[in-house]
Amino acid sequence: MFSFLKARRPMPAVWARTALALLLGASAGVHAQSTPGPINAGVTPKAHAQSYPGLGRPATAKEIAAWDIDVRPDFKGLPKGSGSVAKGQDIWEAKCAHCHGVFGESNEVFSPLIGGTTKKDVETGRVANLTRSDFPGRTTLMKVSTLSTLWDYINRAMPWTNPKSLSADEVYAVTAFLLSLAEVVPDDFVLSDQNIAEVQKRMPNRHGMQTRHAMWPGKEFNGMPRPDTQNVACMNNCATEPKLASFLPDFARNNHGNLRDQNRLIGPQRGADTTTPEGKSPALADGVLQASAAPAPKAPSPAPAGDNPANKAALALTQKHSCNACHALDKKLVGPAFAEIAKKHAGKTDYLASKIKLGGQGVWGPIPMPAQSLPEADAKAIASWLAAGAGK
Ligand code: HEC
Ligand code: HEC
Repeated sequence: MFSFLKARRPMPAVWARTALALLLGASAGVHAQSTPGPINAGVTPKAHAQSYPGLGRPATAKEIAAWDIDVRPDFKGLPKGSGSVAKGQDIWEAKCAHCHGVFGESNEVFSPLIGGTTKKDVETGRVANLTRSDFPGRTTLMKVSTLSTLWDYINRAMPWTNPKSLSADEVYAVTAFLLSLAEVVPDDFVLSDQNIAEVQKRMPNRHGMQTRHAMWPGKEFNGMPRPDTQNVACMNNCATEPKLASFLPDFARNNHGNLRDQNRLIGPQRGADTTTPEGKSPALADGVLQASAAPAPKAPSPAPAGDNPANKAALALTQKHSCNACHALDKKLVGPAFAEIAKKHAGKTDYLASKIKLGGQGVWGPIPMPAQSLPEADAKAIASWLAAGAGK
């Protein structure tokens, strides 16, 4: 489900521009250095440069700085700053909790960040629950071994609907709050660039990362030249189809009750719904999504959305503000179809404008809509388009 959402998330325009500038800048550099090859050895770099004169320029120092934000395990790249657990809690409740839960346990949709670690893990640096086969969940704090990764991820990618909107101090604060939930730091802690390396020494799974594998290209971190799984390719008389030797008979599938309901110690991880035959439960048979599924629209819209000027303008606005990550005109995505919203709230412009700004939960199901930061006028414009029937 998330890869589906990811595919729809547009690349922020600033990034796209910077990436392009860097690409062009980099290739210009290569051209300048290389010596032209023999005339008929294809298009030489120089000839290529000449056929596109004036294209590209070196990225400016500012552009590179905006792009070069990674924070490494040794905290190289970490900006100076600090933030308290208390301030982090305010940010969390305003900008994160509606997706990740008040305690990081997450709601029905988003995977849990906190839970499953103990004080003992903080001492040992290995999360004991990871080795238990009967422990149902894997939270972020159970797995992550480097605090830099948590800081970096929040800094570059969260909140999901508005990445890179937090200041460095805010990232420190909200990271401190998450660490306090996991009892890695006390409630009155202030996390900063000065003490983050000390806190790293308390990460519950800090010794849980293995670098003796071939995933890393270089020799750093004791990397291995070969992968740790070494299959031998079959070269003759190879089986073309796998043969199933045994399977779970249908009558046994639900023998112990619905496994899905028994698999929820932390957060919303879903197991198989064993009340329906395997493979028969469509993605939406998931109780959560089913509860919120809007009825399928009776007929597709008569004209393609783009053909109607009112639709075109409104849809352009929804695109500009990334509403289409969750909404489509005629079908339910994460949120209800705009056509369904229009039907339910005909004429209620003010209500809709306020819901667009504030977000909410429970009208269409348990999946929350985060508050949206868009200009009042744009929210009004979308609201009156919806109130007037969404182009119908
Ligand atoms: C609109 C919903 C939403 C909001 C709001 C949101 N997140 Fe997230 N968060 C997600 C989703 C979805 C993912 C998984 C993204 C992915 O895999 O690409 C995620 C992933 C994460 C992760 C990484 C989890 C992992 O194990 O990989 C962290 C940490 C995180 N969010 C922290 C935050 C913080 C801090 C905030 C507030 C500043 C925030 N999120 C706000 C939806 C949200
Ligand atoms: C992260 C996903 C997400 C994004 C982004 C999002 N929405 Fe929603 N939206 C939802 C969900 C889920 C609901 C259903 C909430 C509920 O059940 O109360 C919803 C509901 C609505 C509603 C109906 C509210 C009601 O009370 O019936 C409107 C109107 C709406 N969204 C408009 C927008 C607009 C406009 C944008 C962009 C500015 C937007 N949404 C962005 C997920 C999203």
